[in-house]
Amino acid sequence: MFEGNKLSSPIAEFNGVSFRYGTGTDILKDIQLTLDPGSFHFMTGESGAGKTSLLGLLYMNHLPTKGRVRLFGKAVDTLSRADKAQIRRQIGVVFQDYRLLSHLNAFDNVALPLRIAGVKETEIKRHVSELLAWVGLEKQIKAFPDELSGGEKQRIAIARAVINRPQLLIADEPTGNVDDAMAKRLLYLFLELNKLGTTIVIATHNQNLIKHFGFVQLHLSHGHIQYINQEKQSKHFQQGETA
Ligand SMILES: Nc1ncnc2c1ncn2[C@@H]1O[C@H](COP(=O)(O)OP(=O)(O)O)[C@@H](O)[C@H]1O
Ligand SMILES: [Mg+2]
Repeated sequence: MFEGNKLSSPIAEFNGVSFRYGTGTDILKDIQLTLDPGSFHFMTGESGAGKTSLLGLLYMNHLPTKGRVRLFGKAVDTLSRADKAQIRRQIGVVFQDYRLLSHLNAFDNVALPLRIAGVKETEIKRHVSELLAWVGLEKQIKAFPDELSGGEKQRIAIARAVINRPQLLIADEPTGNVDDAMAKRLLYLFLELNKLGTTIVIATHNQNLIKHFGFVQLHLSHGHIQYINQEKQSKHFQQGETA
């Protein structure tokens, strides 16, 4: 799927990264983390453990207090505004609070990344309709965010994040407002994207999903990351590759 050298360099690298808000205490402490191309990680940890903060570092929402974050091989602290914007276009994000544009309907919210990329309207119509149907929202295609439930808004946020097949997908508790059957369906959508090469990080509390899919967990606790399930992932991928 990817050309030679893209495969070998990590999508994201945290080197001795600590982070705190203002003059508060460190929420993340001396984090070492590498996200290889095509990897799929769950991020777990109690509420307040720092999951959203870590994802925010991955999206360059904030900079580390100490240490360095590299995205696509580039140190984020050295990037110009234009470089940041260019990198962000390769990242799909599902925010915990959705962040849909309230003046756009479901269709237009999901279409936005494609319009920015200059995709033809006929193609946009086909892609967006297909994806909204997949997430069970074909009837809500013209609805505005204010007319939708939390679970519906969440699914629109997911559709918007995956529509242009980003290189990196960051999802912050993306299934927090849907039932288990829909949560699985959405995870299969992420899995499809992952098979096409997208690197994925999903913060979740849903133990059923974690058990069912069995990807490596980056577990945050007291500012540190612990890896859980590492052998299981390699098994999963080997099976996937030979299937
Ligand atoms: N904007 C902010 N300003 C100050 N403190 C914050 C801010 N956002 C989060 N925090 C604090 O940082 C810690 C980690 O929060 P967060 O990353 O949201 O955790 P999680 O997503 O795991 O629930 C919490 O103690 C939270 O209160
Ligand atoms: Mg959070």
